[in-house]
Amino acid sequence: MIQLEGSRVLVTGGAGFVGSNLVKRLLAEGARVTVLDDLFTGRLENLPAAGFDFVEGSVCDAALVTKVVAANDVIFHAAARNIVVSTRNPREDFETNIGGTLNVLMAAREAKVQRVLYTSSTSVYGNPRYMPINEDDQLSLLTPYAVSKLGGENYCMAFYESYGLPTTAVRYSNVYGPGQDPANPYCGVIGKFIESLFEGRPPVIHGDGNQTRDFTYVDDAVAATVMAATSDRALGEVFNVGTGVETRVNELAAILIKVTGVDVQPAHSDRRDIDNIRRRVVNIEKARRALRWVPEVTLEKGLQRTVEWQREKPSRRAAGPQAKV
Ligand SMILES: NC(=O)c1ccc[n+]([C@@H]2O[C@H](COP(=O)([O-])OP(=O)(O)OC[C@H]3O[C@@H](n4cnc5c(N)ncnc54)[C@H](O)[C@@H]3O)[C@@H](O)[C@H]2O)c1
Repeated sequence: MIQLEGSRVLVTGGAGFVGSNLVKRLLAEGARVTVLDDLFTGRLENLPAAGFDFVEGSVCDAALVTKVVAANDVIFHAAARNIVVSTRNPREDFETNIGGTLNVLMAAREAKVQRVLYTSSTSVYGNPRYMPINEDDQLSLLTPYAVSKLGGENYCMAFYESYGLPTTAVRYSNVYGPGQDPANPYCGVIGKFIESLFEGRPPVIHGDGNQTRDFTYVDDAVAATVMAATSDRALGEVFNVGTGVETRVNELAAILIKVTGVDVQPAHSDRRDIDNIRRRVVNIEKARRALRWVPEVTLEKGLQRTVEWQREKPSRRAAGPQAKV
């Protein structure tokens, strides 16, 4: 069991949505935190004003990564190009998501760190045959993003098997919550829906809205991540991080209309090429048994908290691509 209190902990991508929530939790645990982020989608204002070190730079910079990793005991590797960027520019995605991960792992091996925790994605399951999806079910890679996230994950497992580097991966399923900035053009569907409702506009659903996802509240995702990074039982393992609850995008829109109290009906537009996943809900038994982790925040409660956070936040209009589901 790794003790975070007093440990030197690096969070790559720590200025992003999940990363910044993770940083806050790690600081609360008493860890000495360093963030490495190139501020591609991350923002300094996501982070506390003080109490940690910030290094602005890319995980693609091997010399920088070697130096920063060497000064730490535990690495949370959350830096990544997202699915929209990846679909537009697979080379950029490859360089960060695979090349950057390899840099982190090589540096971690050299520095003999205690653990590398890798944030993977349930996008590696594509359109699965069976639901809920287990970690060892067949994978189906439908996007360059899924390929690169799995590539990083495979490198983590290969470094564990080949060199004994202590690695663990978590596969997140549609994480949402405070800190997911709707002004970020790659923000997920929930932030975009809330923003539309605040402006009295109908939330726009791509396709018929019967596509499903397993929406995970960020505090639950962060708790699972910390447990996976510190547990001895998680060495060399991969864990689904979701809720086990399947929700239609139509239902999501209906809950948000209720929570915000805005009297509109959702609108529908054509589905996009990145919307090629019809259904997704994951089995979280493995994390429950090995890590004693269970998600605690229901969708309705999580959406209420997200709406409150977004209401209090100064509005910054989003530009660019529409909601990602
Ligand atoms: N949010 C989700 O629903 C979800 C689902 C599955 C997997 N993930 C994974 O979780 C991690 C965090 O995702 P997020 O939702 O917080 O996204 P995000 O875009 O908010 O965070 C990613 C962070 O990485 C930084 N970054 C990007 N490229 C970098 C580079 N080359 N060098 C250094 N920093 C770089 C960005 O500036 C940003 O701060 C990612 O690895 C992502 O693939 C997220």
